[in-house]
Amino acid sequence: MRTEYCGNISIKFLLKKVYLCGWIEKIKNFGHFLFFYIKDVTGYIQIIVKEKNIKNFKKIKNLKNGFCVQILGIVIKRYKNNINKKIINGDIEIVAEKINILSKSKNIPIDLLKKNKEKNRLKYRYLDLRNENMQKNLIIRSKIIYIIHKFMQKNNFIHIETPIITKSTPEGARDYIIPSRKHIGKFYALPQSPQIFKQLIMISGFDKYYQIARCFRDEDMRSNRQPEFTQIDLEASFIDEKKIKIISQKLINKIFKKFCKIKFKNIKTITYKKSIKKYGTDSPDIRNPLKIIELTKLFKTDYILKKYKKIIGIYIPKKNNLSLKKITHYKNLIKTYNINNFFFIKVLKNINNINIYKDIKINKKIIKKLIKLYKIKEKDIIIMFITNKKNIYKKLGEIIKKIANDFNLIDKNSYKAIWITEFPMFKKNKKGKFSTVHHPFTLPKTKSIKKIKKYPKKILSRSYDLVINGKEVGGGSVRINNVKMQKLIFKIINLSKKEQKEKFGFFLNALKYGPPPHSGIALGLDRIMMIITKNLDIKNIIAFPKTSKSSCIMTNAPDKIKNSFLKKLYIKIKK
Ligand code: AMO
Repeated sequence: MRTEYCGNISIKFLLKKVYLCGWIEKIKNFGHFLFFYIKDVTGYIQIIVKEKNIKNFKKIKNLKNGFCVQILGIVIKRYKNNINKKIINGDIEIVAEKINILSKSKNIPIDLLKKNKEKNRLKYRYLDLRNENMQKNLIIRSKIIYIIHKFMQKNNFIHIETPIITKSTPEGARDYIIPSRKHIGKFYALPQSPQIFKQLIMISGFDKYYQIARCFRDEDMRSNRQPEFTQIDLEASFIDEKKIKIISQKLINKIFKKFCKIKFKNIKTITYKKSIKKYGTDSPDIRNPLKIIELTKLFKTDYILKKYKKIIGIYIPKKNNLSLKKITHYKNLIKTYNINNFFFIKVLKNINNINIYKDIKINKKIIKKLIKLYKIKEKDIIIMFITNKKNIYKKLGEIIKKIANDFNLIDKNSYKAIWITEFPMFKKNKKGKFSTVHHPFTLPKTKSIKKIKKYPKKILSRSYDLVINGKEVGGGSVRINNVKMQKLIFKIINLSKKEQKEKFGFFLNALKYGPPPHSGIALGLDRIMMIITKNLDIKNIIAFPKTSKSSCIMTNAPDKIKNSFLKKLYIKIKK
């Protein structure tokens, strides 16, 4: 039906006859002639329709935005004054000779060229997806998927699909469940990730697996979370964290080189503990020049530490628009974090001169040592916190993020990545019960069963997260390949022997048949897409996303179901 795509037509086509197909936009009717744009997946081109050139002009006069048409026309140059620099082919237009209306359209309920309300965009998603940006995003997504397949296949990873309707094997979130028709009262669950299956694949002897896998998690939504999302999931045998990091970095570089023209070189690794102490978070944006610095040791002889246990600082490197006065505006914010003992110092021209905000007795000799130790330069500012609180780092992390954002200290066009490793193996909830920080198949750093039993809180895991620009892009670990260790971890997270058997019996059994040492990772495709396309909302990079309440406004899912099988099911459950 067409000889060309709209976006591909350029001045090279001058005076050529072309057939185009697409949708009408921005129509203007002047009686004896009309102007409009026709849009397809590649872009727009302007069409002029003149009464004298067209046989069925009467019919054509009724064209409206949104009509789907086929056009035969000749490419001509636009008059100088009419050139539209906003579109690539704004220097040309097409004089229509024939127009076939392929289908009509009601008035389009959203404006494809302006910002629309989210509710409307999601209700008419099929129209919202006609928007150029949305199409661009989904095309990038498709190209990334192609790069992933090409890279993984080249590196001998085998794509294996794992079940979507499966058994509930919790990984931290709630499951989506599906009632079984043939086994009334029993349920399948949608996988939170292919974790157990990819480990079983390793036991099967496929030593390099990957999958572009859909995952389903019933959890509270955030701007970077969806209830169903996509992972680049991989697992390999006879390798450890080192190799997983190398392969992930190579893959990430293939993607970022293509779309952001950058390559991450030797991505730095820091431990979870260091990350918390330096950035106040386990997903730091290392583009932020503000850092937390530990000063307790330095002040150990000072009188302040007789009363307080800790001194921590925030190091703010010199920035022209950042004065001590501006920083002192954060006094009230800092107080909202329940931090009361803090003061600011600014190093003046003569390094021996420091400006101290707040009337506090402070040993200047120590400050001078501090300046030397952290190579603090003229006009740098340090906020110092004197505290007895242990968990102050998270709050400081929030403060450095806020100051950096307020003063535009982060170069939003740059990309920085970091590996965070050695997360604690367990965390305790308010009721005093342990759960795993990564999933329970993660290998503890120590092999000593005795230690794990005695000091679970102190045990670290062989886990790693990849963080790019402050976003957790991927997570993985070296896995347990020993049934005794696996049972112990289950026991610590309060799974009774009975529960272990019910939930994970098949897996514990499989671990008895020579499981190889293996490791893996899952990279969040949606999060990578968000970074590449600079979208802060995950919904913009998914064709049919869910709302913040995990519903679909377009289809009205989740919905009630009238069904005799469900009736039976409810009766059985009630019993
Ligand atoms: P994890 O739970 O850390 O690991 O998930 C891996 C990556 O998936 C992305 N992600 C999400 N993206 C969008 N919406 C969500 N709700 C969501 N949840 C997670 C993140 C995250 O880093 N089985 C393990 C991986 C392994 O150990 O190999 C797992 O799923 O980018």
